[in-house]
Amino acid sequence: MAYIHLFLLFLRPMERTDDHFRKVISHAREYGYIFASSEIYDGLSAVYDYAHNGVELKRNIREYWWRSMVNLHQNIVGIDAAILMHPTTWKASGHVDAFNDPLIDNKDSKKRYRADVLVEDHAEKIFQKAQKEIEKARKRFGDSFDEEQFTTTNPRVVRYLQERKTILERLAKSLENEDLADVKALIEELGISDPETGSKNWTEVRQFNLMFGTKLGASAESAMNLYLRPETAQGIFTNFLNIQKSGRMRIPFGIAQTGKAFRNEIVARQFIFRMREFEQMEMQFFVRPGEELEWYEHWKKERLHWHLSLGMGEENYRFHDHEKLAHYANAATDIEFNFPFGFKELEGIHSRTDFDLKAHEEFSGKKLQFFDPEINESYIPYVVETSIGLDRMFLAVISNALQEETLEDNSQRTVMKIPAILTPVKAAVLPLIKRDGLPEIAQKIIETLQWDYNVVYDDKDAVGRRYRRQDAIGTPYCITVDHQTLEDNTVTVRDRDTMQQERIEITALEAKFREAFSYKKWLSKA
Ligand code: GAP
Repeated sequence: MAYIHLFLLFLRPMERTDDHFRKVISHAREYGYIFASSEIYDGLSAVYDYAHNGVELKRNIREYWWRSMVNLHQNIVGIDAAILMHPTTWKASGHVDAFNDPLIDNKDSKKRYRADVLVEDHAEKIFQKAQKEIEKARKRFGDSFDEEQFTTTNPRVVRYLQERKTILERLAKSLENEDLADVKALIEELGISDPETGSKNWTEVRQFNLMFGTKLGASAESAMNLYLRPETAQGIFTNFLNIQKSGRMRIPFGIAQTGKAFRNEIVARQFIFRMREFEQMEMQFFVRPGEELEWYEHWKKERLHWHLSLGMGEENYRFHDHEKLAHYANAATDIEFNFPFGFKELEGIHSRTDFDLKAHEEFSGKKLQFFDPEINESYIPYVVETSIGLDRMFLAVISNALQEETLEDNSQRTVMKIPAILTPVKAAVLPLIKRDGLPEIAQKIIETLQWDYNVVYDDKDAVGRRYRRQDAIGTPYCITVDHQTLEDNTVTVRDRDTMQQERIEITALEAKFREAFSYKKWLSKA
């Protein structure tokens, strides 16, 4: 324990480590962000509950997305489709036949893995070796370092990058041809072992459908087999014409939705990164055929700007363009975030062609076309989608926010530097002591602010400890009512990040908060 404490003392704020990740998970539990689902029964694997602070942060992330995608775009409207859909939906969308992950079991450890992930992780290790060589050379050559030249001429780096490319290309080809025997052969040729035990005793690779089934109906004989939706997108596609007509929408236009999705993930791990029940925030943008790639580039830029507006560090994002495209896509990229376990997908942006609407047209026998008055033609629109996991965004926010700081007096503080617009609590109002009329003034301040902001009252413990408690939750401001308040109606406002205090009039609080928590101010950066 003492060792852990010492270690945290020297932990740089943005360092991504297993220890940091462990700390994020336990902090999330201790400060009312996330609990394991049905914890009293020992939990349910990869299913989580959001606690009192977690639910506020989640709502705020959703709101930040909704305002940006729907309110700030006159040509995008929202929808809230049902989780249960007619089962033919999933036949048309390809999920019944193709929403599979290739899985492999280790015969010794009895652990189950995604075969493609084992190969990708192996390729990533080779890539990391190349990166190490590049970093070493960067240090050696300093300002005169030419990364491109080094990467294309240094024999070791060239070999590593070629090796990685060959592996990924072969994996892509085998998956595309559904040649699962070759995926197994690749695992064996590369000498990939069970990451937990080192055993290389593998079963064959098999396909595993990720959809959860359920039944609709009273009796076993008449019940209809349904699926819990594995993505929110299909509720948008099946409503495309309803929305287009009732909303009098003209192409290009978008439909946005947030809601639950369910996937029976084989390897559900990394806390809320890969869950079996999760929430998506998706937007399908319908465009004229042939214009989709322009829009795809447009949405790549817009979505990255949305992320950057939160100020979580430009260096923590990167695009990862897909080499292997899904059968319905003609371009796809991930916005990856630097999670504690490395850069991983946070959001997907996909140019889905007319695949979905065309398939629904075929399976339903209903026309799903748009008459474009500008070119006097009817067509099935092409679709560019942006799709982000709300829970994954939540993880990005809290893992980036949690910091251990050593202060000037050598004391420690744990602080969650969550972007202020997203914090669960906007301010804590603290009477310095519990008498002399200070609690009553604090309560009055709460009564003024609580209409627009989630604010809390706290009079337990010394004020220093109360500050630390709010730092650990991520509250941007602590408003302290003291004896001077009685004389001149001023309070101190302590800033979470700088820990500086300013004295302001109680009547100026609302204006200060309007400025600090203005969506216009935050989102206009996007
Ligand atoms: N409609 C497109 C679609 O669903 P996806 O790449 O499968 O695409 C989109 O998912 C986003 O949903 C991902 O970028 C991720 O943020 C989130 N997501 C997917 N599976 C998830 C899971 N098991 N747990 C948490 N989030 C998940």
